[in-house]
Amino acid sequence: MQTTIIRDFDHWRSAARGCIAAGIPPSHVRMFDDTGQQSLFAESEGLPAAPADSGPFRVPPRFLSLAECLSCHRSADRWNLLYRTLWRIVNEHPKLLQLETDADVLQLTRMEKQIRRDTHKMKAFVRFRRVENGGVEHFIAWHEPDHRIVRRVAPFFSRRFASMNWTILTPDESVSWDQQQLTYGPGLSKSDAPQSDQLEDLWRTYYANIFNPARVKVKMMKSEMPVRFWKNLPEAEIIDELLASAPQRVEQMIAKHEGFAETAADLITSRLQPPLTLPELQQLAQECTACSLHCNATQTVFGHGPADAEIVILGEQPGDQEDLTGVPFTGPAGELLREAATATGLNLAECYITNVVKHFKFRLIEDPKDGPEPRGQRRLHQKPDAREIRACRPWFEAEFSCLARARVLICLGSTALAAVAGPGQRLQEQRGRIFSTAACEKTIATWHPSAILRTPESLLRQQRMEQFCGDLRTAASLTNR
Ligand code: URA
Repeated sequence: MQTTIIRDFDHWRSAARGCIAAGIPPSHVRMFDDTGQQSLFAESEGLPAAPADSGPFRVPPRFLSLAECLSCHRSADRWNLLYRTLWRIVNEHPKLLQLETDADVLQLTRMEKQIRRDTHKMKAFVRFRRVENGGVEHFIAWHEPDHRIVRRVAPFFSRRFASMNWTILTPDESVSWDQQQLTYGPGLSKSDAPQSDQLEDLWRTYYANIFNPARVKVKMMKSEMPVRFWKNLPEAEIIDELLASAPQRVEQMIAKHEGFAETAADLITSRLQPPLTLPELQQLAQECTACSLHCNATQTVFGHGPADAEIVILGEQPGDQEDLTGVPFTGPAGELLREAATATGLNLAECYITNVVKHFKFRLIEDPKDGPEPRGQRRLHQKPDAREIRACRPWFEAEFSCLARARVLICLGSTALAAVAGPGQRLQEQRGRIFSTAACEKTIATWHPSAILRTPESLLRQQRMEQFCGDLRTAASLTNR
């Protein structure tokens, strides 16, 4: 049995490469965390370095991002789990990560979720207190994350609080920002952080502003904002008061909340390295809170289709059905789209299909019929507004940047047209024409299938359907296939 003590992710990576190159199966190697206390296993008992001529082996980018994420996990066995998975990918099953029911894959994704959640909590619950040091203002926070996520989250704080000098202390390590660079230091105890000051009032105001009275559920609040964090949170003292005034503050909250939310662009640049890929964007988009639509929607409905698609179809936003399935155009509008595509010979399986806005926007209306919603209610589609469209734009731009072979962009309806050609374009005037936009040289706008379905007059509906089919045919003729 070979053993080694792993210092960090880079160290694990090179140790794992060495083991793979030397053909050491996971059952013959143990990788231990560097707790600073081991005397049993010296590093000299360590693993072979990768031979210079071993040649690179390829692993899916998803594995690398998973491994990097899990390197922060507190589980002592994570390095062995990662090595076992790597071994299986390289030697047994290159697509192992797609086997969602595999025990190792399940364990990895469970641990990844725990890191995500912990990261989210740290971004949300770090509270700075102001101190003065020789006339210089400094902000200090104490936080107790579940996992060793300080280095993962610190860049977020350096962007968010770029023009402050701050330090975050945790039991594992500390990090400081001097408005230029991040510096890491040893872990500390809570008594090293200042206990209270006027900043607490500021935090209470901040919390009062972002507190979401529309979603008040005490049980849920406790899971969102675990009680063990409450002792460090000045605003916990005002929760009772906020609960009492919740109903009047719903509207106010929405506007305020959005000012504090992490933008989609921030989320993408802080979490993903170029070149971006569609699967990692899709996964990350599930965490988007850039506008308030995520509060009520079931999930982010990301684009769908092959990365080598030549035709991109852009709709407005997912509907009721898509919100539940998670795939664009799977409801009645999708049915009409498929009907038209079949009639014109357009192969939708070769197209990339997405929406300007990735969350379903709706309001609940009374409906005597039963549906998936609370009894007697129905979710009625609402058009996204300019803020929501702007907030979601980085996702479409990122998606498009992954579609290297996209030649033609089909905009379905006026929201898609405005999103790519700017406001003020009239669909009736642009429909069927081919024009160039920043997104795509050959852009064509046509009717949204929902608009056709909603056209009450049958002759007009038929005419629009014919125009729709004609436009799809034109689009198909513009590709190289
Ligand atoms: N309408 C859209 O614009 N997109 C969908 O995904 C479904 C309906």
